[in-house]
Amino acid sequence: MNAYDRASWEERWSVALRAHGDRLALLPANDHLTEGAAGLAPGRALDAGCGHGAETRWLAARGWRVTAVDFAATALAEARAMADGLGPDVAGRIDWVEADLASWAPPPGAYDLVLSLFVHVAASVGEMVRRLAAGVAPGGTLLLAGHLPVDPSTGEPTRAAGQVQVSVDEALAALDPDRWEILIAENRPRPAAGTGADAVIRARRLP
Ligand SMILES: C[S@@+](CC[C@H](N)C(=O)[O-])C[C@H]1O[C@@H](n2cnc3c(N)ncnc32)[C@H](O)[C@@H]1O
Repeated sequence: MNAYDRASWEERWSVALRAHGDRLALLPANDHLTEGAAGLAPGRALDAGCGHGAETRWLAARGWRVTAVDFAATALAEARAMADGLGPDVAGRIDWVEADLASWAPPPGAYDLVLSLFVHVAASVGEMVRRLAAGVAPGGTLLLAGHLPVDPSTGEPTRAAGQVQVSVDEALAALDPDRWEILIAENRPRPAAGTGADAVIRARRLP
């Protein structure tokens, strides 16, 4: 078992849900999504690495039809139960998919929004960005965020040290400028966490 493989995530989710499932249930959707999707008309969305599903529920509650993918069955079961608690309208707009994002590919051009927040990448960041980006429909939005392993403001290792998540440079290198308008590509401090920084990438696929 490596630090971020499927078994490790099952274990992490089991421990977290046992220890503070009630707190996790109350966590709001991430600001990167609520800001990034605020002006978008509801359509079809992919939440790649949905975890306990806060972003998926936020989208479905606003009328999006969401495909939510994660390889941790424990997280998916909890996410589905929480969505069911919001009633059949919201729950009925979500398809839960247990799959490994190291190989799972979205149908080409199927989604108006592809979102992937804080997923640990097993192999190449660029390859994963290209694979997820291929799922965005013309005119649609790609929204990615990753914790940085080193805080750019201090040069110190962050709590994400040793993890491989999406970075601004690798995401930009993977997105063909003839096909993508880059709306945001920056490292942002994490005020809520009080430490660390996130790479945030928002791009629109050109029609
Ligand atoms: C840090 S959590 C983030 C969850 C959610 N996106 C959020 O922002 O709260 C990372 C999630 O990605 C999932 N994950 C990591 N690697 C994955 C992979 N290769 N395939 C599918 N899911 C993966 C984990 O199970 C976990 O739920």
